[in-house]
Amino acid sequence: MSDGIKLNLGCGGNPLDGYVNVDKYGTPDLKHDLEVFPWPFEDDSVSDVVLNHVLEHLGQKTETYLAIIGELYRVCRGGARIRIAVPHPRHDDFLNDPTHVRAVTPDGLLLFSQRKNLEWRRRRCANSTLGLNLGVDFELVDFKLELDPAWGQRLEKGEIDQNVLFDAVRRYNNVVKEFRMELRVVKPPTSASPRSDSPAP
Ligand SMILES: C[S@@+](CC[C@H](N)C(=O)[O-])C[C@H]1O[C@@H](n2cnc3c(N)ncnc32)[C@H](O)[C@@H]1O
Repeated sequence: MSDGIKLNLGCGGNPLDGYVNVDKYGTPDLKHDLEVFPWPFEDDSVSDVVLNHVLEHLGQKTETYLAIIGELYRVCRGGARIRIAVPHPRHDDFLNDPTHVRAVTPDGLLLFSQRKNLEWRRRRCANSTLGLNLGVDFELVDFKLELDPAWGQRLEKGEIDQNVLFDAVRRYNNVVKEFRMELRVVKPPTSASPRSDSPAP
């Protein structure tokens, strides 16, 4: 999807060529506080968004965070790509910065997938169906973990295997340094499909 606006939100000192670089501070292409709504972009005008170590700084109040997710959905067109990198919430990188106000995880972003929300409803799961509640719909199409170098080296040298690593991720701090996730914007939302409420096969 090449013809929409490309946004590098919270660009800081790392502006990207070909993107509208947005930040609350400094001298970006566009100075805007992402916690102030509406964002200065038309509905369905954006095809690509980069949020590199930004989302964990936004929306200390839940309603502000949800409004940010709503704005992302409003300005993006169907099929838009959103790339999000955040520190792992149990890494010291996350804990050390007083401007980190919320944990952002792959499972947390799945709450904004209407496909998953409808599946949970059919299975009577108790998960929050935030996609349906807010009228937004994002598919989590990819996620990667960047290991803390100490654990990455142990894995590379063969000192540990994947099973030990997965167990460590659950038990300990400072195993995963960063999550990198990619979302696709689903428009019209899944719930608008006539078959969205049909029972699971
Ligand atoms: C950790 S820095 C990351 C900067 C850049 N994305 C990078 O990759 O180097 C977080 C950035 O988010 C910006 N930021 C934080 N809160 C913001 C807000 N409410 N509106 C706009 N930008 C914000 C900060 O000014 C800062 O530039």
